[in-house]
Amino acid sequence: MDLRDLYQEVILDHSKKPRNFRQLPNVSLEAKGHNPLCGDRITVQLVVDEKSVIQEVGFQGAGCAISTASASMMTEVLQGKSEKDVEALFEAFHELATGKDTAVDAERLGKLAVFAGVREYPVRVKCATLAWHTMRAALADQEEAVSTE
Ligand code: FES
Repeated sequence: MDLRDLYQEVILDHSKKPRNFRQLPNVSLEAKGHNPLCGDRITVQLVVDEKSVIQEVGFQGAGCAISTASASMMTEVLQGKSEKDVEALFEAFHELATGKDTAVDAERLGKLAVFAGVREYPVRVKCATLAWHTMRAALADQEEAVSTE
């Protein structure tokens, strides 16, 4: 199976059955994200322990299949990660999705590497990165995500 088929399959699976699509109890941090290209909105919630390690991630909102799948996969990947790990992952993911660094280490991203597929569709980049920008805003204790694409 090549990356393109895998991309289709993973997006379909996570958009139909999004993981951690729920309101979390005892939320530590929360932010809202907005894709100005389509008007879709998302909320990301985090439960973070005293060492700034992410214990739980949840998201809510309505978006396209790509934004939903990206948010769903992000929530799985971030469990147990420190803020430093999260920042490194965000940067690698952002580079992968925007195509700025085509040599980005796909192994480091694991299954998130399927999102390299959005590079070919510039309007989809915001879909893939919406949850990530929103999560980052939550970690920075900002209420609204600021997109930098
Ligand atoms: Fe709105 Fe993708 S079309 S987030």
